[in-house]
Parts: sequence; C-alpha cells; structure tokens
Amino acid sequence: MSSSGNESRDGFTSRFGIICAAAGSAIGLGNIWRFPYIVGESGGGAFLLIYLGFILLLGIPVMMSEFVIGRRGQRNALGSFKRLAPGTPWYLVGVMGIVAAFMILAFYSTIAGWTLAYVVRSVSNAFAGMTSQQISAEFGTFHTTTFWPLVYQLIFMVMTAWIILAGVKKGIERYAKVLMPFLVLLLVIMAIRSITLPGSAMGLSFLFKPDFSVVDSSVILAALGQAFFSLSIGMGALITYGSYIQKNNNLSNISIQVTLADTLIAILAGVAIFPAVFAFNLDPADGPGLIFSVLPNIFQQMPGGYVFAIIFFVLLAIAALTSSISILEVVVAYLTEELNVTRRQATIMATSAATLVGVLCTLSFGVMEGFTISGLTVFDLLDFTASNLLLPLGGLLIVVFVSWYMKRDDVRDELSNSGVLKVHLFNALMFILKFIAPVAIAIVLFDSIGII
Ligand code: PHE
Repeated sequence: MSSSGNESRDGFTSRFGIICAAAGSAIGLGNIWRFPYIVGESGGGAFLLIYLGFILLLGIPVMMSEFVIGRRGQRNALGSFKRLAPGTPWYLVGVMGIVAAFMILAFYSTIAGWTLAYVVRSVSNAFAGMTSQQISAEFGTFHTTTFWPLVYQLIFMVMTAWIILAGVKKGIERYAKVLMPFLVLLLVIMAIRSITLPGSAMGLSFLFKPDFSVVDSSVILAALGQAFFSLSIGMGALITYGSYIQKNNNLSNISIQVTLADTLIAILAGVAIFPAVFAFNLDPADGPGLIFSVLPNIFQQMPGGYVFAIIFFVLLAIAALTSSISILEVVVAYLTEELNVTRRQATIMATSAATLVGVLCTLSFGVMEGFTISGLTVFDLLDFTASNLLLPLGGLLIVVFVSWYMKRDDVRDELSNSGVLKVHLFNALMFILKFIAPVAIAIVLFDSIGII
C-alpha cells in the first residue's frame, strides 16, 4: 500500500508547505478566540495546566496517528479507514469526522464573520473614544442583530469555498508563511501593552496561578475539548492532510512543531487578553464575545492602535480561513473520492449545507436565543457536541486503530519513512497509544457524562 504514491494525487510539494498547511489548520480562532474564552469560563490557571497536560499526553500522539492513517491510506478520512481496514466498521470513525466537520464549520463561520465585521469596524475607527463599557455594549448590539452577522458569515463561507474550489491552497500557504509570523509579532506587542496596563497584574495570576478548587469534571472535559479543537485533531482534518504529505516527510517532527506553535500562540493570546480583561474591569467569564469586548480596548491604548487593529483582525480572519479550508476539505475530499462528484459540486453542496446550519448558529445569539436544547443554544450545542464529545471520541478511536488494529511494523514503517528515519521513543509512543491515551480520554468522557 505504501507504493500508492505513484497514483497522481494532489499533494503538498514541500516540507515547509505541509508544515504551513498543518499549522494553518491548527492555528486559528481556536487559539485566539476560543482558548481565552474557555480559560475565562473555566477559572484560569488550573485549566491551563490540565490543557497543557492533554496537549502533551494526547495531542502529539493523536496528531501523529492521524498523519499515519492518512499517509498510509492515501485517501480522505473515511476512505483511508476503508482502505486500511476493508470490510470492517472502522470507516464509521470517518463518518463521525465528517459529521463533526459540518458542525464545526457551522459555528466557526459565525465567529469568523464577527472577525470580518471587526476588520470593517477597525477601518471605520468605530471604537474611537469609547469606554470599555461602551465597547462591550456595542458588541452586544452587533452580534445579537440579524442582518450583518449573517452577511459577514456568508462572505466568510464564500471565501472558504472559493479557496477550496480555485485550488489556491498553495497560494494560501505562500501567504500564510509570511503572515502568520506577523500575527505572532502583533500578539507579542499586544501582550506587552496588555501587561503594562495599570491594574493588569491580576490577569497574569488568573492565567498562570492554578486554583484547583475550581476544577470539576466539566473543566477537565473543557480542557480536553479545547486541546483537540485547537490542534485540529479527532475528526480527520489531519488524516486528509496526511494523505497529501509526501513519503519523505517526517511525521513525528511535523506533529511536534505544529503542536508547539499552536500552543505558544494560544498562551500568547491568553497573555494579551487577561491582563487587559482585569485592567478594564471586564468579566473573564464573558463567553464567546470575550475577545471582541477586550481587544478594541487594547488597541485604543496603543500608539498606532488604529492601524494595529486593522492588521490584527485581517490576520485573524486569514488564520480562520486557513483553518476553515481544512475543515471543508474533509467533506470535499470525501465527496469527491468516495461518491464521485466533481470538486465543484462537492464544494457547493458541502458549503451550502454547512451555511444553513451556520445561520442557525449565528441567529442563536439573537432572535433564536430562546431556542434551546437541553439548556444550550444551537451554537453552544454544536460547539459542545463537536469539540467536547465527537473530537475526543474520534481521537480515542484513532489511537486505538493505530495501536491495536494496524500492524506495529506498518506504523513503524510509516513513522520511519520505510526505515530511512530513526524513530525515537517508538515503544513509549505505542504504549501511550495503546493504553494511556484511550484510558485517559475514556475516563474524562465517561466522568463528564456521569457514568463514573
Ligand atoms: N484548530 C482550528 C482552530 O484552532 C479549528 C479546527 C478544528 C480546524 C478542527 C480543523 C479541525 O481554529
């Protein structure tokens, strides 16, 4: 099966290209929007420690496993399972991933739409002279209305579909490798501004001083979900990308580098946000709107803040795009490879379906706020189900597949590029994949559902 490289298959052309694409998928709203808001709702430092533990213990192994499955299977998330485990129900893991992809794309595009709106508002200098209370109130009004949030969401979906359709992924990679370091630089500057605001000290201790008395099973589950969401693992996005990786790329190194970059950016975002939250007397547990209420304040307190704000929101939108294309690609690769529809039809179908659900997510902050299922709005329900349940469950099945179903020699073959590379700590990795990771994920999931 490892000889399937001679099939003509679209792929990443360089090692750097694949790192950019995988990092592009991982780094996005998950780091800059979702991480701070979940940390804020989960009580700060203790959450951060648990999150980091999951990243190390589960994140890197699951990511490596996805790359192994994808590169060996040479197919989309579902097709790779079918090829590696013909005649078994393992392909259902791929089905689950496709379902998760729809859900994530739906609510992701809501937030990406808000980001686009904030690009425009930065350009028009909409927050000039406002107090932090006014900025929060402004956000409150904006995101609960119907028209503009939907328009921006639609624009974002069209952009995502256009990139997938036009196959400009290579172009995106080229831009991303210049722009993402720039985003990091901006975050560093914002973090410095945030830390030096009067009254900011509490923010740092909120983020870094663990208080374990706030930890319960829902905090642990939230940390697990955030780790999977942020790394783009558990639903086959990286199986799909793995199938485009060339045979001579080092899967372990890519996994470690992407994980490191993703984690550093999340922490940096935390350092930019929380000191400012406390300096401006805002509530860390503000929810999904947190960064939109906080960031404009930081820009107002910065020399050149007008320009900074524009650049920042543009870069954030681009980071969101390089993530959303990796989500849409899961569905499009499946439709084209398994159901024989054209790439164009697949893109249109998948985008339309996700947009329909996405509209409900956006409206769930406004006119549909009162429509809840077991106490959750559509947005919260999709985010919770996909991030906290489907991704960890997918990750669990993925590591079990690699360590229990696949032949050990095949796994080693894939990680070592057929014996060319030396695989460090292979036995330790297999032990984690076989026992530690599945048990850890199972305990957290069962515990939160109340089975334990
Ligand atoms: N990791 C992306 C982010 O942090 C979101 C994502 C989740 C992408 C799952 C692909 C799969 O923004």
